[in-house]
Amino acid sequence: MAGRWRGGGGGGEVVGSIYSVLALVLILVACVELGDAATAVDVYRLIQYDLSGAPYGSRLAGLNHHAGAAPFAPGADLSRTVVILPVRELNLTFLQEYITSKQPLGGLLFLLPQDIRHKSAGGNKSRNVGLLRSILSELEQLLIHVNLPYPVYFAYEDDKINAVLADVRRGDATGQPATATTGGYKLVVSTPEPRKASSPTITNIQGWLPGLVGDGTTQLPTIAVVASYDTFGAAPALSVGSDSNGSGVVALLEIARLFSRLYSSPKTRGRYNLLFGLTSGGPYNYNGTMKWLRSFDQRLRESIEYAVCLNSVGSWNNELWLHVSKPPENVYIKQVYESFSEVANELGVTVGIKHKKINISNPRVAWEHEQFSRVRVTAVTLSELSVAPELLQSTGGLYDTRHIVDETAIHRSIKLVAESLAVASVTFDLLLLLALGSYLILLFSFLVITTRGLDDLINMFRRPPSRKAKAA
Ligand SMILES: *[C@@H]1O[C@H](CO)[C@@H](O)[C@H](O)[C@H]1NC(C)=O
Ligand SMILES: *[C@@H]1O[C@H](CO)[C@@H](O)[C@H](O)[C@H]1NC(C)=O
Ligand SMILES: *[C@@H]1O[C@H](CO)[C@@H](O)[C@H](O)[C@H]1NC(C)=O
Repeated sequence: MAGRWRGGGGGGEVVGSIYSVLALVLILVACVELGDAATAVDVYRLIQYDLSGAPYGSRLAGLNHHAGAAPFAPGADLSRTVVILPVRELNLTFLQEYITSKQPLGGLLFLLPQDIRHKSAGGNKSRNVGLLRSILSELEQLLIHVNLPYPVYFAYEDDKINAVLADVRRGDATGQPATATTGGYKLVVSTPEPRKASSPTITNIQGWLPGLVGDGTTQLPTIAVVASYDTFGAAPALSVGSDSNGSGVVALLEIARLFSRLYSSPKTRGRYNLLFGLTSGGPYNYNGTMKWLRSFDQRLRESIEYAVCLNSVGSWNNELWLHVSKPPENVYIKQVYESFSEVANELGVTVGIKHKKINISNPRVAWEHEQFSRVRVTAVTLSELSVAPELLQSTGGLYDTRHIVDETAIHRSIKLVAESLAVASVTFDLLLLLALGSYLILLFSFLVITTRGLDDLINMFRRPPSRKAKAA
C-alpha cells in the first residue's frame, strides 16, 4: 500500500501521501573479539507519511550505529546508538517523554513478541495477551502521530535476537558505551532513503445481483452490502488487518455467495437488487467509498433503500453495534434495526444501536456509512466496536492478525446479516442448503462413481423412456 490519496469535498481538502515502505534486512555485526561476525534478521520499517503536508512517522531509513539497551544513565548521549526495546518490557511513559523531549537518537528497534503471530493458550497467558494488545495499540498510536527524525524498525523476538540483546545488556552493564574500539554490536540497514510514492489508483470492486421484477413494478429497491478492504498500520509490511478489514471482506464475500445461489432461481430471488461493494482507502477517511458513491448514476443512488457497512465483525462475543447517523425513529433505520434485532434474538446475541449525527461541513467521517449519509443515502455500520475509532486507529495495527479473529464470530456475523436481508420466508438454513446444494450434488456424484461406476450415475440421470416412445 502506498500513495497519494485525496479526500475531502466541502471544507478543507486533506492530502495524504505515503512513502515507499519496505521490509528490510538488518545486519547485526558483532564487533567483539570474534572478529566481524555478521548475522541477518528481518526488520519492518515504521511507516512514513504526510498528512495535509505535515510529516509523520520515521523520516530516515538507513541505519548504521551501535546497539544499546535500557536502562541508560540519565542524560546519556544516544545520538549514535540504536536502542533495542522489547515491547514486552516497554515503559510507554518513558518512551513518550523521550520522544517529546526531541533528544537525538541513532535509531530504534522494537522487538515484537511472537505471541502476536501465534495463538497462546492458558488463562494467565491470555491476560498477558490482553495487556500486550493494549500496549501495542498505544505504542502504534504514539509512533504514527509524531515526526521521528531517525530510523525506526520492528523485528520479531527470536533466539538469535534475544541472544544479541542479552549480550548488549551485559556490555552496557560494564558502563562502557559500545564503540568500534570497545566492541559490541552494530546494527546496519543499508537502503536508499525512501521517496514519495506516486499516486495510486483507488480500486473499488462491486458486484450486482438483480432482483425479480414483479408485475406492475419497473424499478426495484436496492440494498447495498459494503466492506472496506484497506489497512493502515505502524509497520505497513505487518499490517494485515485480519479483523478490521479482513472480517468484513470475508463476511461480504460469503453473503454474496449465498445470495447469488439464492438469486439463481426465480423462485428464491428477492424483490430487491443487491449491490456489493469492496471499498478502498478505508483508513483514509473512507475515501474510496466517497469516490465509489460519486460514480453512481442518480437512478442507482436513489434506488438504494439502505446500505449495510461491515467493519470489524470478527472478534466479538455477545454484542454487536449498529451505528447510524439518522435518528433511530427514522422509518428505514427502525426497519433495519428491527430485522437485525430479531435475528440476533434467535442467535442469542445482542445488537445495540448508536446514533451519531454527521457534520456535513466537516469532511472527516468516523464510520463508512457516514459517506453514504453525506450523499443522503440511508446507511448503517455493523461493528463490534462501540465507539468510532480515531482517524488511523483500528485500521490494521500490529495486533490485528489472523489469530485474534474468531471463526464463530465471523460465522454469526454472516448469519446475522444474511438472515436480516433475506425474504421473510428464507431462513439462513435454507440459504445454506441452497448454497450447499451444489457441493452435495458433487459429493453424491463422487460417491456413486467410486462405489458403483460412471454408468450407474449416468443411468440415474437418464430420463426413463417416455410412454410415447414405447408405444411407437
Ligand atoms: C516509566 O517511566 C517513567 C518516566 O520516566 C517513570 O517515572 C516510571 O517510574 C517508569 N515506570 C516503571 C514501571 O519503570
Ligand atoms: C487488508 O488490507 C491489506 C492492505 O491494503 C491487503 O493487503 C489485504 O489483502 C487486505 N485483506 C483483505 C482480507 O482484504
Ligand atoms: C462541524 O464541522 C465544522 C468544520 O470542521 C466545525 O467548524 C464545526 O464546529 C462543526 N460543528 C459541530 C456542531 O460540531
